[in-house]
Amino acid sequence: MLPQYIALNNIAKVVIRMANESMIEVKNLTKMFKDFVAVDSISFDVKKGEIFGLLGPNGAGKSTTLRMLSTLATPTKGNATIGGYDIVKHGNEVRKLIGIVSEKMIMYNRLTARENLVFFGNLFDIPKDALNKRIDELFELVQLTKWKNTQVGTFSTGMRQKMNVIRALLNMPQVLFLDEPTLGLDPQSSVEIREFVKTLNRENGITVIVTTHMMVDADLMCDRIAIVDHGKIVALDTSTNLKKSISGADTTILKLEIGNLSPLIIEAINACGCVDAVTQENSMHLRVISHGQEAFDSVIDSVRASGGKINSMENLQPTLEDVFLHITGHQVRDTADQKIPMEQKRIGQQTSNRIR
Ligand SMILES: Nc1ncnc2c1ncn2[C@@H]1O[C@H](COP(=O)(O)OP(=O)(O)OP(=O)(O)O)[C@@H](O)[C@H]1O
Ligand SMILES: [Mg+2]
Repeated sequence: MLPQYIALNNIAKVVIRMANESMIEVKNLTKMFKDFVAVDSISFDVKKGEIFGLLGPNGAGKSTTLRMLSTLATPTKGNATIGGYDIVKHGNEVRKLIGIVSEKMIMYNRLTARENLVFFGNLFDIPKDALNKRIDELFELVQLTKWKNTQVGTFSTGMRQKMNVIRALLNMPQVLFLDEPTLGLDPQSSVEIREFVKTLNRENGITVIVTTHMMVDADLMCDRIAIVDHGKIVALDTSTNLKKSISGADTTILKLEIGNLSPLIIEAINACGCVDAVTQENSMHLRVISHGQEAFDSVIDSVRASGGKINSMENLQPTLEDVFLHITGHQVRDTADQKIPMEQKRIGQQTSNRIR
């Protein structure tokens, strides 16, 4: 548990001004760039102490939403409050309550980790002793203590991201905004960042909004997820409920292993009236989302009729990717691919290709 010695004033005000337990209230928030609607009248509430996810592909409007909520961009229409403070009218109060980790964070490579944090801490006017103590605690929390006197320029991407996160915590924010916090990180560093955010949330009650196009981030980190596409929220619920929403009696998700898989067979499956989507996972495996009581039989019949040899067949539980596909008609990675670093992208392409 981190000591609350900096923001006590703010906390008191928040308690007074919050009408209910919503820390963040967003109503019809809209951002236009000339004629282009980047964020299209979105509304949602985030409860105090909740981890809330904005999940969507490139260009969905996630970062623009965070930029408006963190007062870095002005809404075109609509409004939002954080801790009861309006993001436009009470920008100063809002900024005292928040910390933000975005993709465009600057660290000074020639300064050590500690010197960087001292520099940014001084921008918040934190008293020197309190700042030093806080920096030491934050280094401990992310296990960077032994690197504190090392130049940031020598740090790995994962270490730099940890620095970005603890920098956003210097002012003891009540609300933490994380824009794609695991982008470009290896699996181990991603796990560490996710675990750190969850610990912060659990032990310090920090409310978190995290944007991501990674299903695993949304699934493992978030209490509730808003699925965003083309600037709109197209679904909002817990991960479990989102999955349940498409796993009703009417939806069947099948994993097929077909020894002689070919475009002809895939075409035949796609042609079934009951089939909503087909994803080729590798040279032998297909994932088929279908609906209706006859779905199972129709898919098998279409494979056989086109000369396919079924080695195995499995009835799967839906994933968030299936939910996204079901609701939007396309996969998150269709557009998010551009953004994935090349190394990860090659791995992704081997394992999944959208074919319809
Ligand atoms: N300053 C700007 N001027 C013009 N268009 C912009 C500006 N900022 C964002 N956009 C456009 O608004 C849309 C939403 O962008 P935004 O960065 O919010 O998406 P995102 O969901 O964060 O995507 P990404 O996964 O790429 O980070 C995009 O089409 C983008 O090109
Ligand atoms: Mg973004």
